[in-house]
Amino acid sequence: MILITGAAGYIGSHTCIELLNANVEIVAIDNLCNSKAESLKRVESITGKKIIFYQMDVRDKSALREVFNKHKIEAVIHFAGLKAVGESMAEPLKYYDNNILSTITLCEIMDENKVFNLVFSSSATVYGAPNKMPINETSAVGATTNPYGTSKLMIERILNDIHQSNAKWSIAVLRYFNPVGAHESGLIGEDPNGLPNNLMPFITQVAIGKHDYLNVFGGDYDTADGTGVRDYIHVVDLAIGHLSALDYATKNHGIVTLNLGTGIGYSVLDVIHAFEKASNRKIAYKICPRRPGDIASCYADVNLAKELLNWTARFDIHQMCRDAWRWQFNNPNGYQ
Ligand code: NAD
Ligand code: UFG
Repeated sequence: MILITGAAGYIGSHTCIELLNANVEIVAIDNLCNSKAESLKRVESITGKKIIFYQMDVRDKSALREVFNKHKIEAVIHFAGLKAVGESMAEPLKYYDNNILSTITLCEIMDENKVFNLVFSSSATVYGAPNKMPINETSAVGATTNPYGTSKLMIERILNDIHQSNAKWSIAVLRYFNPVGAHESGLIGEDPNGLPNNLMPFITQVAIGKHDYLNVFGGDYDTADGTGVRDYIHVVDLAIGHLSALDYATKNHGIVTLNLGTGIGYSVLDVIHAFEKASNRKIAYKICPRRPGDIASCYADVNLAKELLNWTARFDIHQMCRDAWRWQFNNPNGYQ
């Protein structure tokens, strides 16, 4: 049985579908601080399978211990965490407390139960502002620009130390680039609280009429059209990458750190145009000043994941936009 923390969230819920479809038994936990239980109900209806779900905080040691006592957990995929960059700057302690303590608590209980297989959600944000593209896993890390990114970096270090201390650990650290899109059913997707921070949900909300226009943060970057370039990856591809990473971690000891992206960079204007095509709606936008902390370009070298996991992303930017739009169109107010 595989324990999924943060299972009700955006990436967690999509990964639950892929695991259930592959007949993997799962136990899901989430404190629902940034999600709704409805997402897992929809996962059940998509897959036709029941999910064992505990609404609890990963930092609650005794509750977590009970979950491990009740179920024969063989591995953990640890998605639970807070992820809003701006909020992390306003409330750094909340981010360090939640993200780091949840990981320490989880690892302690795993260790107690002799469960040593872990897949962890890290982020391309640990690379800070790299000067060479594409970014490979040996690129320097450390120059993070916000407490969210620093919390991910600190967790990566903790996981490396844990592995150093006991070679039984088998850990896959996955550095995601920019997850977008939704399951093709249109039943689950990204459901941000309040004003979206990220590009794709903002675009879909403009398309559905919630905002008059999109602010394009910066038109004077050193990129082909002056707008920021990112490596957008379909959330279903990302979810499938977790199955491959889990398989790898159960067959190999050690710690491995992998980029999960497509290896292709698209500018903000590229995404707007692809989305217009997919949705047949016009996206009004205004070029405005750069957003503090943003970098010009960020895309992955994805060779290592291909080599070790035999995994590559399959869905292109058009599919990402089509699926993001279907989710938004069918669920104008998210899960409600
Ligand atoms: P999300 O907010 O949709 O999902 C995270 C889930 O964890 C939420 O359901 C939340 O309720 C839960 N959670 C948070 N703290 C918890 C705790 N202490 N105990 C129990 N549950 C808790 O975010 P997501 O986009 O699905 O991201 C999943 C992971 O991937 C996060 O760790 C995030 O930092 C990381 N990540 C996300 C992105 C992205 O752009 N979405 C990029 C890189 C890395
Ligand atoms: N952007 C806009 N307008 C918006 C939102 C974004 O122009 O309203 C631009 C940004 O300036 C950037 C691009 O769109 O050029 C992508 O921005 P996102 O906010 O969607 O994504 P980021 O690359 O800034 O950050 C995301 C996650 C981080 C994560 C990082 C790397 O939000 O948590 O990817 O994985 F660390």
